[in-house]
Amino acid sequence: MNKFFVANWKLNPQTEKEAIFLAKAEDFQNVVIAPPFPFLKSVSTNLKKSKIAAQNIFWEKSGAYTGEVSPAMLGSLNVEYVIIGHSERRKIFNETDEIINKKIQTALEMGLKIILCVGENWVVRKKGLSKTRNFIKNQLKKDLKISKNLKLAFNNLIIAYEPVWAIGTGKSDNPKETAEIIGFIKKFLIEYYKLKARVLYGGSVNSKNAKYFLEKKEIDGVLVGGASLKPEEFKKIVKVF
Ligand code: PGA
Repeated sequence: MNKFFVANWKLNPQTEKEAIFLAKAEDFQNVVIAPPFPFLKSVSTNLKKSKIAAQNIFWEKSGAYTGEVSPAMLGSLNVEYVIIGHSERRKIFNETDEIINKKIQTALEMGLKIILCVGENWVVRKKGLSKTRNFIKNQLKKDLKISKNLKLAFNNLIIAYEPVWAIGTGKSDNPKETAEIIGFIKKFLIEYYKLKARVLYGGSVNSKNAKYFLEKKEIDGVLVGGASLKPEEFKKIVKVF
């Protein structure tokens, strides 16, 4: 299976012109680019190979919710994917598993593909892999509790395993342990939901460490934050294989 790459630009760049420049430089097969909302349209019209993701979504479809963005609005811009549950949203914007679950259900109903981020903080990880597996299992159970009329499938759900302590810190996870945790996530999804899903790694991925993650058979790709703002760096990551 081809490896999969997500470029999460977060609150960058600051102008539409820079966003278009970056998008054109990162326009490869099997890449999903997640620009800030205001640049979704201009980025998507400038892409030939990559797909596009929103970095967030609201769970209601319309109404009096000042400042929010609905799934239908994204759909009308040809946005195919949405990142849900990123640790920055969980931490800075107090998004709970209940909120994340509501967003997942609405996104599924509206036909958006989901990139769900899960991962433990350092307090959990330093207690060992068994505690870490438990933590992630609980997150997945809460986030993916969906009503019967909705269906999770290989094509509409990607999981990004992102240890919180590895995001934006320059301290990436140990690829061997990452592969073990991702193997566990896959097994859990099959046993619990009969669901085969792609699972990516995210957290301080760069052009030097990417190959150690991508060479593991359990790891289907990487979600890249900081390094996706540097086109040369991102290109090297995508070209590892
Ligand atoms: P990072 O961000 O690559 O800068 O650590 C990863 C992410 O967006 O989750």
